[in-house]
Amino acid sequence: MSGQRLHNRIAIVTGSSQGIGREICNQFFVEGAFLICADLKPTGQGETVPTHEWISQKGGKAIFVETDVSKAESWKALVAKAVEVYGRLDIVVNNAGICSEAGNPQPIDQVEEDAFDAHMHINARGVFLGSKYPVQQFKKQEPHANGMRGWIVNFASMVSNIGMQGLTGYTASKGAVAAMTRTIALDVAKQGIVANCIAPGFSQTAMLDNALGGALSAAAEGVKAAIPRGIFGQPLDHARAAVYLASDDAQWITGITLNVDGGLVAQ
Ligand SMILES: NC(=O)c1ccc[n+]([C@@H]2O[C@H](COP(=O)([O-])OP(=O)(O)OC[C@H]3O[C@@H](n4cnc5c(N)ncnc54)[C@H](O)[C@@H]3O)[C@@H](O)[C@H]2O)c1
Repeated sequence: MSGQRLHNRIAIVTGSSQGIGREICNQFFVEGAFLICADLKPTGQGETVPTHEWISQKGGKAIFVETDVSKAESWKALVAKAVEVYGRLDIVVNNAGICSEAGNPQPIDQVEEDAFDAHMHINARGVFLGSKYPVQQFKKQEPHANGMRGWIVNFASMVSNIGMQGLTGYTASKGAVAAMTRTIALDVAKQGIVANCIAPGFSQTAMLDNALGGALSAAAEGVKAAIPRGIFGQPLDHARAAVYLASDDAQWITGITLNVDGGLVAQ
């Protein structure tokens, strides 16, 4: 259980309203962080209580800031709000993402330019902006006693490591996240800032349900059979990994892609 590994740390989590992002907010709260929940809207698919209200009801500190991660103006306002409310920023988790191609996979010669661009815009540009503006803030701040100024945790994907038929835009965008994170890690290493990726495998969220027609569908059973551990990942699996990479325990880890995928890409 809780060791308060993020005690009093100030954390932005994007894509906070549902799925993996919502559970990251919850686990960060359990570990003592104060949250800025950032999403297009406060209430996600299948949820009734917005994440920031859920955390507040449990006695935590959390606010919601309406954010489009693909827009620089959104990021400037988001970082400014974090500093206005909490006085500084310690952690950014760039979790927001789309995989609209999964519902309509197409071979490369049929891919619509707009679909490709949309994935690059939100998944790759979103992480670029979500690293650029937080780093500007981290650099202005006094470091913690251990010399650390900031932690960046970006969400890549299993498809950062392997191809997946019919998902050109999504795979391109997630490959970009993993590649970009290595460069960001080098750019900021001397400033007491670390940047790492989590690469989820198939995990039980709305994204997976929308792609496979539900976790109990025949398509889902087929996908599950390809996972060495034999079960889908859960938001908690990724949230626990995010806590680790956003904590003092990971202060000498930077530029990595941590596969949280039940062994999928080990094959
Ligand atoms: N679930 C999986 O199987 C899986 C596998 C590999 C990678 N991932 C990655 O993990 C992350 C979280 O996935 P999830 O399954 O929880 O997804 P999800 O679809 O359940 O939730 C994504 C969240 O991101 C938000 N979002 C989308 N576009 C946004 C924008 N422009 N600005 C702000 N917020 C935006 C959505 O509103 C939503 O709340 C994503 O980056 C995804 O690509 C998930």
